Amino acid sequence: MFSRVKGAQDLLSYNLWKGIFNKVQTHLKTHNFKEIQTPLLEYVSLFERGLGYETDVVKKQMFLIEQKKDKNQMCLRPEGTAGTMRAYLEKKHELTTPCNLFSFGPMFRYERPQKGRLRQFHQVNIESIGVTSIQYDAFFIQMLHKLFLETLKITEFVLMVNFLGTPEDREQYKKALYSFLESYTDQICATCQERKETNILRVLDCKSESCQKIYDSAPIITDHLSEQSTQEWALLQDQLQQLSVTFTVNPRLVRGLDYYNKTVFEFVGMTLGAQDTFCGGGRYDGLSEQLGSKEPVPAIGAAFGFERLLLLLGDRAQDFIEPESPLTLVLACAQEQNSLALLCADVIQRAGKTVQVMIDDTSLKNKLKKANKMGAAFVVLIGEEEQQSSTVTVKNMMTGEEEKVTQDKMVSCLK
Ligand code: HAM
Repeated sequence: MFSRVKGAQDLLSYNLWKGIFNKVQTHLKTHNFKEIQTPLLEYVSLFERGLGYETDVVKKQMFLIEQKKDKNQMCLRPEGTAGTMRAYLEKKHELTTPCNLFSFGPMFRYERPQKGRLRQFHQVNIESIGVTSIQYDAFFIQMLHKLFLETLKITEFVLMVNFLGTPEDREQYKKALYSFLESYTDQICATCQERKETNILRVLDCKSESCQKIYDSAPIITDHLSEQSTQEWALLQDQLQQLSVTFTVNPRLVRGLDYYNKTVFEFVGMTLGAQDTFCGGGRYDGLSEQLGSKEPVPAIGAAFGFERLLLLLGDRAQDFIEPESPLTLVLACAQEQNSLALLCADVIQRAGKTVQVMIDDTSLKNKLKKANKMGAAFVVLIGEEEQQSSTVTVKNMMTGEEEKVTQDKMVSCLK
């Protein structure tokens, strides 16, 4: 017996996913987002340039593809933003801005699997490309807030917001943070000591309580913004309030990918345990140039993990399952009726109904038992008598009523 790959899941109840995804899709479409798909395979360099060489995703979590000839190393995509921006830049002459795109599909990260953390997981990835105003960021965040709260009826989450300013602002802040950390080098954990030298903002994300105690008195990024950034940060908060979005300012929120500037945010589930962020995003005005564009293309986006969303929904996820069309089972009583059963099943399917034919050599009792187990609404029975008289027996499985009808009337009885 083979078992599935560690950290990957089989989706046998995909109708549950589809029910929720349909709601998400409708919500996004009413905000003029168009659905796209980008390849699962990308060049590693796309993520190295886009996400940053020092980020955990690039340094530790890539699923690299062993290759024979192609010199450009490939990988399974760990996230959707870099690929979406690459696709936009390749086709931008055909597109107008603002260009709102979303996609849904698997992402791959080599992480230690635990509740809410997988190696193959699924994201809904949402990007607004070609938008400059910070007020638009508030509208984008409100769109997500409405999706979770109103469309999916999730209440147990908090929205965290922070402002990273421009790259120049960040350089100022990094210096201040570095000199603060100099006095605590011996007291912070080994990971923070390494991050202090390589990707200093990420120390603020450390899960260790003792490190967090130290960072309580660390300088705050929004105190190191230029005048213009300070105004934008105030405008963002004001616009969020005007749009009735409840949020908490988290000065330690920096996000784990390097492409962010200005607005960053996370939706955190209160019942999720250690992996509690189910949606994260922010503005990434510099990514296009990192990927080779001559002009800057300002953008904002977010992604949410479908598995974490499902954990958050719990049993309520069932409410989104869309009813399936009633099933008709066509049963041949003996081998001699098999061919006729197949013809009848074909007629029923062409009438737009869901049909399953049962012609295997088991007893009629067994077949009827299976019909019950499969939740069939109707059974079309074909025995020797029916075959000779060009009829079928239609059994309504809800009422138990049976009716013998000529084969040309069969479909009209399946209601
Ligand atoms: P991210 O924060 O790395 O952002 O991932 C977004 C979401 O994907 C997380 O909040 C979580 O729900 C889910 N996720 C991430 N890793 C895992 C995992 N190993 N197992 C299960 N779920 C996971 C991004 O990926 C950015 N590209 C978001 C973005 C879009 N920013 C701008 N546009």
